[in-house]
Amino acid sequence: MNEIERRRTFAIIAHPDAGKTSLTEKLLLFGGQIQVAGAVKSNKIKKTATSDWMEIEKQRGISVTTSVMEFDYHGYKINILDTPGHQDFAEDTYRTLTAVDSVIIVVDGAKGVETQTRKLMEVCRMRNTPVIIFINKMDREAKDPFDLLDELEEELAIKVRPLSWPIESGPRFRGVYNIYERKLNLFQPSKQVVTEKVEVDVQTEELDRHIGVSLAGKLRGELELIEGVYPDFAVEDYLKGELAPVFFGSALNNFGVEELLNCFVKIAPSPRPVVAEERTVIPQEPKFTGFIFKITANIDPNHRSCVAFCKVCSGKFARNTPYTHVRHHKTMRFSSPTQFMAQRKTTVDEAWAGDIIGLPDNGTFKIGDTLTEGEELHFKGLPSFSPEMFKYIENADPMRTKQLNKGIDQLMDEGVAQLFVNQFNGRRIIGTVGQLQFEVIQYRLENEYNALCRWEPVSLYKACWIESDDAAELEAFKKRKYQYMAKDRDGRDVFLADSSYVLQMAQMDFKHIRFHFTSEF
Ligand code: G4P
Repeated sequence: MNEIERRRTFAIIAHPDAGKTSLTEKLLLFGGQIQVAGAVKSNKIKKTATSDWMEIEKQRGISVTTSVMEFDYHGYKINILDTPGHQDFAEDTYRTLTAVDSVIIVVDGAKGVETQTRKLMEVCRMRNTPVIIFINKMDREAKDPFDLLDELEEELAIKVRPLSWPIESGPRFRGVYNIYERKLNLFQPSKQVVTEKVEVDVQTEELDRHIGVSLAGKLRGELELIEGVYPDFAVEDYLKGELAPVFFGSALNNFGVEELLNCFVKIAPSPRPVVAEERTVIPQEPKFTGFIFKITANIDPNHRSCVAFCKVCSGKFARNTPYTHVRHHKTMRFSSPTQFMAQRKTTVDEAWAGDIIGLPDNGTFKIGDTLTEGEELHFKGLPSFSPEMFKYIENADPMRTKQLNKGIDQLMDEGVAQLFVNQFNGRRIIGTVGQLQFEVIQYRLENEYNALCRWEPVSLYKACWIESDDAAELEAFKKRKYQYMAKDRDGRDVFLADSSYVLQMAQMDFKHIRFHFTSEF
């Protein structure tokens, strides 16, 4: 396999508590990156922080930032992009999904599909990202597997195909039958030991010997039903994002994880072509191109510098080589690009399409920026979603207006939240997906920019970007709604609707105006 084809860049996504951290940890165990279970901590609230990149993370125990973990496995190079554990940082997760070629969704077998799973799946669907589903916690009492499959199909609006099948759950859990490899895995609860695997022909008595006559009979019936109901697994449908293979297991007990990983490396896509405004970029192209999908603050609190995460879209990136920062028309060289393993980072000399590299940044990058070997390219597909919470941001120390403005500017470049300027009163409105983001902004303005801000309430329901081919109607709309019109940072028109009723009425009254809930259209 060549360097690019052997790469698998993906993210694990889940509703909080479904087992994302546990699964990530087991994958790292297989990759030989860690030796014992328990080395990776959950990045959730109330737990000790996994990283001290930001003081606020220490205080709150949330890994606000996304990190990348990489390892080699059976000749494949695996890049796992970690995503924030807290849903107030969902926007971060959405953006991270633009840098992956596939995802693994973890679902709690007892809870089924939860809100966050549904939202994340919507983002995957927008981009036709191939997904594999891992139903976790089978060692606990779980829902009926057929019901779970129906629920997945219905709630996530994707066809599913089981590639493994559980034999009971909870205290009666006996293991899973691996449909993909035709092997039976018998379950022994253990966090460290990989359990016994036997190759059995399900039609023979050997199966009865392993799990008893009655369970064997039930399993045969269920497998028959699966073969009858679900068409054969078609890799092409998976790669198109239309069909999700489903595995069952228990991440905590390291059960069913190796099967998942083995199947994953075989079927998951290597780096996929990336669409730019000008053309589609193929990973195998010799010239380097990449885009910034994430900027994190203050990895080292003694330095003001940030790290910009760049996804290599094509070719090979090399250290100390001149590249073009397309937005600034500027040539840049990077003397210390980094790659990551949880918190450890090392300087790298080269990286290939599919890899993620960290570039030291002093405010030169903005989310979505493109780097090339000189070509004018603008990668598309970094959506901004309509925020869900809004507040006016006010200066609380008139002596430090400059600092505040600079701070707000840079934080918005990092994509921490979205800024709208109300065209009627000139006031600045910050939009977020969760309360925590306001706290992060206030804290960082104070600690990094020496500026003080104050929040004031504004009652808004949604911000939507508006467009129309009918210039007169657009003008009429803006006139009618002048108190509710704002501009985003790129100068685009945004309508701030204060209730869903108002929004519906506007949509009805102005039929030629398109109301967008993501800013990329
Ligand atoms: P997350 O990152 O998706 O939020 O989930 P995480 O892996 O942290 O798992 C959430 C909780 O579920 C943890 O328990 C974890 O131990 C448990 N868990 C994960 N996988 C399994 C599984 O296969 N079986 C069972 N029975 N439990 C599982 P916790 O009590 O919140 O934390 P801890 O004290 O165990 O670390």
